[in-house]
Amino acid sequence: MVYDIVFEPEKMLHLPSAPVLPEEITSRNMQKFIKDMIETMYVKNGVGLAAVQVGKPIQLFTLIKTYNDLNEHEDLALFNPTWKKLSIHKQTDEEGCLSVPKMYGLKKRYSKILVSGLDKYGKKIEFIAEDFFARIIQHEVDHLNGHLYVEGATKLHQVE
Ligand code: NI
Repeated sequence: MVYDIVFEPEKMLHLPSAPVLPEEITSRNMQKFIKDMIETMYVKNGVGLAAVQVGKPIQLFTLIKTYNDLNEHEDLALFNPTWKKLSIHKQTDEEGCLSVPKMYGLKKRYSKILVSGLDKYGKKIEFIAEDFFARIIQHEVDHLNGHLYVEGATKLHQVE
C-alpha cells in the first residue's frame, strides 16, 4: 500500500514523533507498515522516509538500499534512532524532501556519525555512518524530532 505524503506546512511535521516499544516492532501490523513505508519511498522517489511523512508520528524511518552502507542488499528500517557526531567538521551538500516538494537547498551535515536504534526485529543496533549515508540519517532523525531540512538551509530554490 502506497501512502499519501504529508506536506509542509502540516503541523505534525513540526512535532516530535513517539518512541516505539521493541515488542511493538515485531507485531504483524508494524511489519506491514515497514513494507508499506518502503513501497511508498520507492514510488515517491525518496531516498529516505520518516513515518511522520505518511501521517504516523512514530520514531521510524526507512532508507533505500542504494545508500545503506550497512547492508547494501537491504532497505534500512530504524526505530528510535539517535546519533552522535564523530567528525568535527560539517559538509555542505544539496538536499530535498518529499514533504517540501520541488525545493532544494544546501545543508550542512556532519560527515561521520555514530548511530544507535532498534532494527526491524526490535534488536538494538549501533553503527558508524559516513557521507551521504550519514546525511540521510541526519535528515530523517530531524523529521522524527519535528524539524525540516529547510531550517538552516541556504540557497533554497524551487525547480519545476
Ligand atoms: Ni525529508
